[in-house]
Amino acid sequence: MGKVLITARSVAANREGLAILEAAGHEIVTHVGDRPWRESEMLGAVVGMDAAIVGLDSITAAVLSAGAPTLRIVARNGVGYNAVDVAAAARLGIAVTLAPGANTVSVAELVFGLMLSVARRIPAQDIDVRNGLWKRALGCELFGKTLAIIGTGAIGSEVIKRARAFGMSILANDLVQNPDLIEQHGVRYVDRATAFAEADYLTLHLPVTPETRHMVDAATLATMKGTAIIVNTARGDLIDEADLHDALASGRIAGYGADTFSAEPPHPDNPLLKLPNVVATPHAGAYTAESVSRCSVMAAEEVVRVLSGRPVLHPAPVPA
Ligand SMILES: NC(=O)c1ccc[n+]([C@@H]2O[C@H](COP(=O)([O-])OP(=O)(O)OC[C@H]3O[C@@H](n4cnc5c(N)ncnc54)[C@H](O)[C@@H]3O)[C@@H](O)[C@H]2O)c1
Repeated sequence: MGKVLITARSVAANREGLAILEAAGHEIVTHVGDRPWRESEMLGAVVGMDAAIVGLDSITAAVLSAGAPTLRIVARNGVGYNAVDVAAAARLGIAVTLAPGANTVSVAELVFGLMLSVARRIPAQDIDVRNGLWKRALGCELFGKTLAIIGTGAIGSEVIKRARAFGMSILANDLVQNPDLIEQHGVRYVDRATAFAEADYLTLHLPVTPETRHMVDAATLATMKGTAIIVNTARGDLIDEADLHDALASGRIAGYGADTFSAEPPHPDNPLLKLPNVVATPHAGAYTAESVSRCSVMAAEEVVRVLSGRPVLHPAPVPA
């Protein structure tokens, strides 16, 4: 049967996904590391493969061409596809699939982990207590605060449901309004400028496009409250990190919780990582046992479908 390359470390370690591929008679070739592979590291790996299950690796036009003509599907074990040249894949007749819904709850829960970590300074206080320092940091509550959510798709919607339980009032901005969120969860859709200006907490849940890249920059930060806390579990490039650093360092913005960075992993000298009001996680939003399992199964099922001549269930949108 087919040769299936797996570069997504969590998929390579997940028995349920592997079992689906093995049951269909496919040969599994793993090529995993402790960070996403660069183009140069993918070029050789894809040659002769019929399918690839990938994480955040660089799946460029050159990588896809190297995989052609045998390569028939690139299955992402998540929903982000900015590292995959979907247009090039379409030209080469290679399907690109996503795993929508598989990791939404996990990411939404991490949003609250980051909000509380920044607002209550949990990581810094933990280190202090371990070092024998019994000194409280004054925090702030979520209750009664305004949460602005940019992007009310799968993850943003789950964040909204949980924010209600914290007693937050919710502003949202999206290209498309979701009437259920308005009716059932009291969400008020506003323009982006209002969302930024009124936010006590701002959380991003949208893709990077030419229009959204650096949507948080010196100009938009200047319109925000000085007490505001920003959380980014979406993509690092939504934020101009240099501008955000300046705002955080000068106290113009109160805090930042980041699961994503412009460059991943961030350079150890990234000045954001030197600030006390920043809490960072290593793009771990989707990395829970439950989410890994769902993503692995969905990716494996897409591969089996394509290699047996059936249409995919969840294709990545092809740019016009
Ligand atoms: N940290 C992680 O591990 C992790 C895991 C999964 C997804 N993500 C990221 O989270 C983000 C959201 O994922 P999702 O599954 O909720 O996606 P989704 O497609 O369900 O929702 C995205 C929403 O953004 C909206 N949007 C697009 N362009 C917009 C714009 N210019 N202005 C306002 N809204 C706009 C869309 O209309 C949509 O409602 C993505 O960037 C994804 O890459 C991160």
